[in-house]
Amino acid sequence: MGAPAERREGRQKVTGAARYAAEYAVPGRAHAWPVPAAVASGRVTGVDTSAALALPGVLAVLTPGDAPRLAEAEDATLAVLQDPAVPHRGWCVALVVAETPETARAAARAVRVHYDSRPHDVNLSEGHRDAYAPEEAGGQPGTLEHGDPEAAFAAADIRVDVAYRVPPLHNHPMEPHASTAHWDGDRLTVYTSSQGGTAVRSVLAKLFELPEEQITVVAEHVGGGFGSKGTPRPDVVLAALAARHTGRPVTLACHRRHLPTVTGHRAPTRQRIRLGTDADGRLTALLHEVTTYTSRVKEFVEYAAVVSRTMYATPALRSAHRVVPLDVPSPSWMRAPGEAPGMYALESALDELADALGMDPVELRVRNEPDREPGSGKPFSSRNLVRCLREGARRFNWADRDPRPGVRREGPLLLGTGVAAATYPVMVSPSSAAVEALPDGTFTVRVNAADIGTGARTVLAQIAADALGVPLDRVRCEVGHSELPPAPLAGGSSGTASWGWAVHEACTRLAAHPGPLPPDGLTVRADTTGRADADSPYARHAFGAHFAEVAVDTVTGEVRVRRMLGVFAAGRILNARTARSQFTGAMVMGLGMALTEGSTLDPAFGDFPETDLAGYHVPAHADVPAIEADWIDEDDPHLNPMGSKGIGEIGIVGTAAALGNAVHHATGIRFRELPLTPDRVL
Ligand code: MOS
Repeated sequence: MGAPAERREGRQKVTGAARYAAEYAVPGRAHAWPVPAAVASGRVTGVDTSAALALPGVLAVLTPGDAPRLAEAEDATLAVLQDPAVPHRGWCVALVVAETPETARAAARAVRVHYDSRPHDVNLSEGHRDAYAPEEAGGQPGTLEHGDPEAAFAAADIRVDVAYRVPPLHNHPMEPHASTAHWDGDRLTVYTSSQGGTAVRSVLAKLFELPEEQITVVAEHVGGGFGSKGTPRPDVVLAALAARHTGRPVTLACHRRHLPTVTGHRAPTRQRIRLGTDADGRLTALLHEVTTYTSRVKEFVEYAAVVSRTMYATPALRSAHRVVPLDVPSPSWMRAPGEAPGMYALESALDELADALGMDPVELRVRNEPDREPGSGKPFSSRNLVRCLREGARRFNWADRDPRPGVRREGPLLLGTGVAAATYPVMVSPSSAAVEALPDGTFTVRVNAADIGTGARTVLAQIAADALGVPLDRVRCEVGHSELPPAPLAGGSSGTASWGWAVHEACTRLAAHPGPLPPDGLTVRADTTGRADADSPYARHAFGAHFAEVAVDTVTGEVRVRRMLGVFAAGRILNARTARSQFTGAMVMGLGMALTEGSTLDPAFGDFPETDLAGYHVPAHADVPAIEADWIDEDDPHLNPMGSKGIGEIGIVGTAAALGNAVHHATGIRFRELPLTPDRVL
C-alpha cells in the first residue's frame, strides 16, 4: 500500500476501449434532447409539438401533460415533466425522442412552448428581503456562535473587517452527464455517468415504484463529476421516462450548454469576515458571515462559513449563513462545497490581518493554532497544519521573502508570493464489499464503487492485496455495477475510506480462513458501518498549506502563475501516483477559481450566459506552471483500518487565497472579488 501503482483502466481509456454511458449502443436505441424553459419563472400553458413531430425520424415529444407519471421525488430537481411550473430558466419543459441525436436536437428547436411568465428575481444581495438563516448548512447548524463576538471584535487591538465575493462556478466534467435507459417489461437497465450507482438505483426504484431488484445501474467509466454527479441528475430520469414512453432504448447525452442549469453549480457567496486580535496577533474574535442563494426547487446552502469552526483558536466565534431563494437554477455540490469559497475568504482575510499586524502570514497562522476544534470543542484526531506550513515554507524558500508589497519588478511585471492554509473534513459512510478467492490463487474484489477518474479500482486492489498479503497482480477489482455489493458515492472525499474499509474487512476475514480453501473457491462479504462523524470523539480533518508565486502584467492586467506548491497532511497516502494526481488536479481547479472561472446571472433572462468552455474558462495547459504536490507522513489511528483521510477535495481548498495573496504581494492592491481577470486587475 502506498506504492505508485498505475491506474488499471488507463490503457482502456487512452485506446477508447472504455465505454461511457452514452456509448452503450443498445440495439434499436433512440436519442433524446431536452427543451429548456425560455422563461425564468411562470408556467407552461401549452406545447405545440406539430412542427417537431413532422420532422422525419422524430418518435415522440414528451410534455408535462403526457409524460409518464413519477412517484413524488425527494429531490425535487428530479420531478421532470410532471408539472407545468417553471422554477428557473433552462428547466426541462419538453423532451424530444428521435432516431438520431441530430434529429432530436433539430426537433427540440421546432417545439413551440407557450408560457404564462412571471417577473423573476435572480439578484443576490445581502439585504434581500427574502434572506433567511437556514437551520442547516452542509449537515451542520447554519449558525454557530460562542463568546460575545461583536463585543470582542469591538474591543480588539487590531481589527480587519473585509468582504469577499465568489461568483457562480460550474463543475463542467470532461464527460457531460449522460444516460442510456432501456426497459424489458418491468425491468429497467440504465447506463449512467454517476458518482454513485447505488443511490441511482434506489432513487429510480422510488420514482418508478419498482423493487430495486428490477433495476440494473451500470456506471463502469465516468469522466469526472466534481460533485455534479454525486446524486442522480435529470438525465437519468428523462432517459428512463423516454424509454418507457416510446418502448425503445433511449440515450440522453446532455449538451454541455445544458449543464449549468440542470446539473447543479456552486452558488455565489458574499462573505464578510471580521478578525480581531490582541497586539501579539492572537485572535480575540472571528466572525464569518456568508450570504448565498438557493433555488425555488430545493434548499442547498453553500456552507462557506463552516471552515471557521475548525481553523483557528478564538474565544469569540460567529460562523453564520443566510440564504436567499431566487428564480435561479438549483445549486449543488461542487468540489469542496463550502470549504473552497469559505477558505478563499478566510485565508485572504488572514493575509490582510498579517499585513495589519506587520507579521509574517505563516507565523500568524502558527500563533493561532487551536488545541481543540473551536466549533465542536473536540480534540483533533491529528492536525499537522503547522508541519505543512513549515515544510512548504522551507521548500518555497519563504524565509528569503521580502514582505513589502509591490516592489519586485521584472520589466512590466510585478512579482509576488502568497500562502494559504487548506482543510477538508474526514467523512466515511457504510459500505459493503466482497472478495472471492479463486482456485487459481487469484482474487476478485467486488464493490459498487464509482471510479470517476480517480483510480478507485487501483487503490481498492491495493487495499485488498495488502490485507490478503498477496502481490497486487493477483487481485482483480470490479466496480460500477449494481449487481455488486452496494456502496456509497464517490463524494465528500470519502469513497476510498468507505469502500476500502469494507474491502479491508472482507479480505482480512478471508485471510483468516482456517485450513485450505474449498476447491471451487470461497467468497467473503463484509458490511461496514464506517463511523459517523457525529459519533467520533475526535474532530477529524485533513490539512494542507499552499504556496504560490505570480507575475502580474502591469500593461495587460494578466496574472500568470509561476509556481504552486501544496503540502498536505491527509493520513496515510494509499497510492502515491493517483494521490498526487488528485492533489494537483484540484490545485489546477483552484487556479481556475482564482483567475479564470466564474459566471454571471443575466438579470434580463435570469440565466448564465457562460454555458460552454469558450465562455466559461477552465485553465488550459499553458496556464498551469510548475505545480507540485507533496505530503507529510501522518499516522492517525482514529480513522479507518487503512489510516487514510480523503484527498479528492482538499487540493482546491485555499489555492485561490494563496494566489490572491500573491497578487496582493505583487501589486500592493487587494482584490476581493474572484476571478482575478485582467479587466479587474488592470
Ligand atoms: Mo464532491 S463535491 O463531494 O463530489
